Amino acid sequence: MCGIVGYWNNQKNALPILIDSLKKLEYRGYDSFGFVTISDSKLYVERQIGKVSSVKCRDLPGIVGIGHTRWATHGKVTETNTHPHRDCTNTIAVVHNGIIENFQEIKSSLIEKGHRFLSETDTEILAHLIEEDLKFGMSLKNSVMKTGSLIKGRNAFVVLHALTKEIIAFRNGSPLIIGIKKDSNEIFLASDIQAFLDKTKEVMYLDDEELVLIKENPEFYDAKNGEKIEKRLISIAGEVEESQKGDYSHFMLKEIMDQKETIISAINQDDLEIMHVAKEINEAKGIFFIGCGTAARVCHFAEYVFSHIANKHINFITASEFENYKHFLLPETLVIAISQSGETADVLEALEVAKQKGSKIISVVNVSNSSMTKISDYSFLINAGVEKAVASTKATTSQMAITTLLAYACAGKLREGDRVLVDLAGKVNDMLNPRYSEHIKKLAQIIHKKENILIIGRGLNYPISLESAIKIMEVSYIHAQGFAGGELKHGPIALVEEGTPVIVLVGNENTGEVINNAIEVKSRGAYVIGIASKNNQAFDYWIKTPNTDEITTPIANLIPIQLLSFYLGILRGHDVDYPRSLAKSVTVK
Ligand code: F6R
Repeated sequence: MCGIVGYWNNQKNALPILIDSLKKLEYRGYDSFGFVTISDSKLYVERQIGKVSSVKCRDLPGIVGIGHTRWATHGKVTETNTHPHRDCTNTIAVVHNGIIENFQEIKSSLIEKGHRFLSETDTEILAHLIEEDLKFGMSLKNSVMKTGSLIKGRNAFVVLHALTKEIIAFRNGSPLIIGIKKDSNEIFLASDIQAFLDKTKEVMYLDDEELVLIKENPEFYDAKNGEKIEKRLISIAGEVEESQKGDYSHFMLKEIMDQKETIISAINQDDLEIMHVAKEINEAKGIFFIGCGTAARVCHFAEYVFSHIANKHINFITASEFENYKHFLLPETLVIAISQSGETADVLEALEVAKQKGSKIISVVNVSNSSMTKISDYSFLINAGVEKAVASTKATTSQMAITTLLAYACAGKLREGDRVLVDLAGKVNDMLNPRYSEHIKKLAQIIHKKENILIIGRGLNYPISLESAIKIMEVSYIHAQGFAGGELKHGPIALVEEGTPVIVLVGNENTGEVINNAIEVKSRGAYVIGIASKNNQAFDYWIKTPNTDEITTPIANLIPIQLLSFYLGILRGHDVDYPRSLAKSVTVK
């Protein structure tokens, strides 16, 4: 959460480059944004509420600067709480990502020393701590080191000094990457490589407890002892990945349509590597799949798939609850993290626990070189391409495809897994056509004024009902809840009133019980929406899904839900790519 950018060069105006870079990080938070540049040894600051892509910025002079897009944690969405924050002398500016867990005590002691705070943020203490050190003759580098060691939590912060024109960045738990363009003597800094990948592909990754001092050339230091360290310059291969909307009105719609190809890309893995991981799974003493939000629902789906295909029990745990299971971890235990970003704080913290216990870690991520890949013994890339819309769509189905393939590999049936998933990919490709979208849009028109939607599924479709609820809620803000069909009569059915939309996710086998549930809610007045390969008289509205293998039906069933969520959000007038209060990468706990 929150995006950081920085730019250093010796001729060009910094602001247009900072704005351009920050726009690419908007998905990390979009409550407010700010920039600071230096000119004539003075700081020039611009801060505004809203998204950097939709608000016009005032010009700022100067060739060096930093910027920030905020997802509010400490303090409301106000201009005063927007980064950058400054010290009392107005020479030090700071932008920050993370939460400083011990900020209150530090703030109190700084107030006692006479520092004047303007915002409610935890970030502002950083500027004042550094001011305090510099007052006593400490160098900026030593002060940043000291400050970094003082603060608790997962953080990254960047400091700009008006007099020395230095940028110093510190990382401990939140990513920072440096881009170098040698021919034009430009240095970029960001919390995600996407911010500057169109300008340079030569990058250096800052690791935890390291800092980088940017002035002419970037110098890297071990933040624990101040010793200089050498960093490898990495060339990012291939073309800059296209993350534009193209002809689509929204990233979410584009990414739903990308699923015509992404299921195939997800299963395009090296057979030997898949078999190697399958062997690790088969030999492990205890297997935990962990993730958050939608990724946690994929872990839940994996639990069913491993049970059905590989006759194997795996535990699925929401990463934020993993701590409660740590006493089960052994060196022979395997922890598999599912994450689009590879940066989700709760997952990283769970993996750190696993690491301390000596357990093996595998991650399944979309973003290469993310923090999760670094902590893992082995990492799979899901190859879904950049996913920009906050609501995950194509990454989800890719994660589901790869976990399904792994389950087949564990059962010694990799070829069969390939065949089943290739068949699914072809059918998804056929399904995603304009006529299909129109049919779902029509349904959205019927139900978009409702304030409550229920979704039921059984077996493999139960986790999908839970994911469907997440998707509908986050994009349309309609309350939605998923249930196992069998649970209906144990409480949830009381919510069904005349006209309540109930979405019934139907598999391709043993469909009787879920259809019975559909009939039960229909008798109580529900408006029954069937997502199924065959129509049924219980359905008031039928959305046809392809006749796929039973194991892959849930993946196909999720796609119309994604489209429905999108159209519900649009009809209710929401910014579907950037739903309120959310961010794409949840880097705080
Ligand atoms: C919902 C959604 C979130 C993420 C969750 C984990 O559409 O995208 O629930 O799934 O924040 O994020 P990653 O996958 O980056 O770990």
